Amino acid sequence: MDMTTAIIDHTLCKDVRRCFENQTYAIPARWLYDRRGSELFEAITELPEYYPTRTETDLLKANGPAFAALVGPKRAVIEFGSGSSVKTPHLLKAIDPAAYVPIDISGEFLEHSALLLQAEFPDLPIYPVEADFMKRVALPEAVADMPKLGFFPGSTIGNMIARTSVDLLRFMRETLGEGAQLLIGFDRIKDIKTLVDAYDDASGVTAQFSLNLLHRINRELDGNIPCEKFRHLAVWNDLYARIEIYLEAQADIQFSIDGHPHEMAEGQKIHIENSHKYGLRDARLMLRAGGWTPLHEWSDEQDYFTLMLVEAHPYKYAP
Ligand code: TRP
Repeated sequence: MDMTTAIIDHTLCKDVRRCFENQTYAIPARWLYDRRGSELFEAITELPEYYPTRTETDLLKANGPAFAALVGPKRAVIEFGSGSSVKTPHLLKAIDPAAYVPIDISGEFLEHSALLLQAEFPDLPIYPVEADFMKRVALPEAVADMPKLGFFPGSTIGNMIARTSVDLLRFMRETLGEGAQLLIGFDRIKDIKTLVDAYDDASGVTAQFSLNLLHRINRELDGNIPCEKFRHLAVWNDLYARIEIYLEAQADIQFSIDGHPHEMAEGQKIHIENSHKYGLRDARLMLRAGGWTPLHEWSDEQDYFTLMLVEAHPYKYAP
């Protein structure tokens, strides 16, 4: 694993101190997903402007027979960042899996969604793992000898910078082993208005989701950030092919967190998320850099979103 991800000890407290005391003005996006944040994100996935969830779900529903043919039966499905596991049933129904291992950082969410899935698939062994999948994850002993299918939907890979994505892909290859497959979602590069609207909806749910991060800091770290003085900002960075999300101070402000005073100037921004978008060749190259060989791809009619099935081939000497 890359040093930057391996050494940094991510706690909300440390990450917030890095933001304001070391003046990085960036907070890792993982802290958006407390209970309230997770609820708001669920609401985002149902917004008319937020096409990714709908589009990917439709692809999963429509292509079951093709998944079954290419993946085959009796694999252990390992989902990275399973959340509410709402997309998972479509995949599980299609492929006759031997086990399901949802990995998520939020234990509470994980148990709840594992129970719901168990009710829907009473004969499927489910082994939830509460872990940060950006670190090395030990898989349950019970699935050690099963062939594996990794599942990484939602274009979550897009929330990482390129080198972290490649680290993660290499890592997943190690975790899942040679011969494993991975089904991974990529949000595609498209017209800028569609992209920006997906991250700045008319009803303001996305803004609430972003601003919840500041409320969370106030709640959990005894802060008094004036949240109403910030606005949610989504901008397309063409050079990096990504949407960048910021919280921008609308006035000169002073506040304290855990007794430590801080100030920000009007117009100063806190960077809270990146969402990279991909061309097909970009995605394939990144996957190959991570040790995964492309097998098959499924895109919607508008080319808004693509599911890629890739395989961990044995390494060969290059010619
Ligand atoms: N993984 C989601 C995405 O990049 C996360 C997301 C959606 C998000 N909307 C957001 C993150 C708004 C921060 C702010 O599409």
